[in-house]
Amino acid sequence: MIVVTAKDYDEMSMKAYEAMKKVLTEKSDATLGLATGSTPVGLYKLMIADYEAGKISYKDMTSINLDEYVGLPVTHPESYRAFMNRNLFDHIDIKKENTHVPDGLNPDLAAAADAYTAYIAAHPADVQILGIGSNGHIAFNEPGTPFDSHTHVVTLKEGTRKDNARFFDNDIDKVPTHAVTMGLKDIMSAKFIILLANGSGKANAVKEMIKGPVSENCPASILQTHPNVLVVTDEAAAYYLN
Ligand code: PGA
Repeated sequence: MIVVTAKDYDEMSMKAYEAMKKVLTEKSDATLGLATGSTPVGLYKLMIADYEAGKISYKDMTSINLDEYVGLPVTHPESYRAFMNRNLFDHIDIKKENTHVPDGLNPDLAAAADAYTAYIAAHPADVQILGIGSNGHIAFNEPGTPFDSHTHVVTLKEGTRKDNARFFDNDIDKVPTHAVTMGLKDIMSAKFIILLANGSGKANAVKEMIKGPVSENCPASILQTHPNVLVVTDEAAAYYLN
């Protein structure tokens, strides 16, 4: 695990993008593992800027996202499909049919989750972008999720729903109670993982991920066992590392 501390959010985004760009330039048909949330938005802006400057094309690339709320239609602005379209896909030349986000409206969520797992097994990400929850979750794998989990439906912890209420008029009751998420084993199949974290609210989770025991109590700690992980944080999120 390589850990890099940036001075602020913009520098964090830039350092993560520099690492990602190597993959983008070396493999024109790369599979990109993508994440939602506030954290990767700066990285996505840099991807868009380089696309607009003609430096990178996504026309032969494929993407696969980590997770999606259950029950939100794609027309809902806070569905993760809508988030990805708005923050990235609508602004680059990736083909929408090559972008994959779990379907949180599928009437057979379990079967859809199995199909997602099978897709990941056949198309492991060349680079996987991750954020981290303040409780150490990655994707929606909350503390206690088995390390050998595959794509599955989860009940969101209250803390996670509180963290995300800012996107739902600060009303926790509007935050969905369930989500579909890639499992930890699916995430670990990525060839290269870049985890970003910013802000003091992530400092404890970052410490547990890097310095704590490898334990299902901190799902992100599984990354200690992956051979190719880059963690990029800002100074606030790195507060407990030294
Ligand atoms: P955030 O979410 O980027 O909005 O902080 C990260 C996460 O919960 O994984």
